[in-house]
Amino acid sequence: MRTDKIYLVGFMGAGKSTVARALAKRLDWRVEDIDERIERQERRDIASIFRQHGEPYFRVAERAALIDLLPQRGTVVASGGGTFVDPANRELMLRDGVVIWLDVPFSTILDRVPLDGRRPLAGDRAALEALYNQRLAAYRLAHVRVDASRGPVDLLVDQIVDGLET
Ligand code: S3P
Repeated sequence: MRTDKIYLVGFMGAGKSTVARALAKRLDWRVEDIDERIERQERRDIASIFRQHGEPYFRVAERAALIDLLPQRGTVVASGGGTFVDPANRELMLRDGVVIWLDVPFSTILDRVPLDGRRPLAGDRAALEALYNQRLAAYRLAHVRVDASRGPVDLLVDQIVDGLET
């Protein structure tokens, strides 16, 4: 495992993008966001990509964004909720850096993720909960688990940095 790169993984609404920015700032590293990279590359938002081309197309773009970032060191990467669930992506990520799972219970996800279609896979509660449960086994394969359900982002960052140093 290489320690000059960190991947944040976890379900939608776990706080991956927010924590990635704060963690990169603390470490004085770069921050990258897979979803933002895809949106920049495709010049449209994730919802439009799903609508116009479907999920398989999105997953190809997601893999490409991940591969683009492989050479980059000293970087915190916020993944999308599904990135680490794909076995090939998972293998790349686990070899390329420290993978940290931001673990948040489903009840908190529901509070944080609006079921308004902005996230294409967050259409209704039952489907979201099924997806959450289905993905737990994959997230558990991360190198580190952090309880990300409470507390200010700075405390979470403290916890992550302390964990990396020990
Ligand atoms: C997805 C999560 C989203 C985005 C896309 C698919 C997923 O990212 O990549 O809508 O499969 O869980 P966030 O976890 O940042 O919302």
